[in-house]
Amino acid sequence: MTSKVHVSTHPLVRHKMALLRDQRTDPKKFRELLQEVAILITYEATADLELEEVMVTTPLGQVKSHRLRDRVGLVPILRAGLGMVEGVWNMMPNAEVWHIGVRRDERTLEPVEYYSRLPVRPTVDVCLVLDPMLATGGSAVAVVDTLKRWGADRIKFVGVIAAPEGVQHLTTTHPDVSLYLAAVDERLNDAGLIVPGLGDAGDRLFGTG
Ligand code: PRP
Repeated sequence: MTSKVHVSTHPLVRHKMALLRDQRTDPKKFRELLQEVAILITYEATADLELEEVMVTTPLGQVKSHRLRDRVGLVPILRAGLGMVEGVWNMMPNAEVWHIGVRRDERTLEPVEYYSRLPVRPTVDVCLVLDPMLATGGSAVAVVDTLKRWGADRIKFVGVIAAPEGVQHLTTTHPDVSLYLAAVDERLNDAGLIVPGLGDAGDRLFGTG
């Protein structure tokens, strides 16, 4: 199986990405833009969700309609993934949210999982892993490993900016996981930041660093 890598070409995404990347964008605007881009990327990532038919009574009659059959789990990778949850959750208010904390060791860039809040068994049909940055790919691979050990079998990665190294790492380690992104940038620098990227998403969101 080969991972599908979807890089959005939607004009709204491209427009908002310019603002998100801009170093002059302040934290409040940055948070708003990240939520908006997350909604737009998730719109593309959820195009194959399963539906079931329902009859709906309108003020003027009955109409065959649909509702989501798939139960969706949103899995934000702390911290920066938190900046994507609210917008996506507003679109799918019945989704469950399962937090997983992963930080990169500053020297080795290896992922360290420090928090995981999953029930004993999966309660959802499809997991959307949310993280705006896919740099080395170590954090995303670690989270997908954890979700698979938990028993999840349909997993999608919903990100914003990726480095080619991260795309390569995630798609070769987990070829069954599709990636939905707004951009794939040039490269990683020695500090493991995506270039040109947008800086450190966690720091820009939370005003740290
Ligand atoms: C950043 C980013 C991703 C991860 C990507 O998080 O938010 O989660 O690094 O890097 P990788 O693909 O090389 O694993 P960081 O570890 O800095 O933690 P933070 O979100 O708490 O700032």
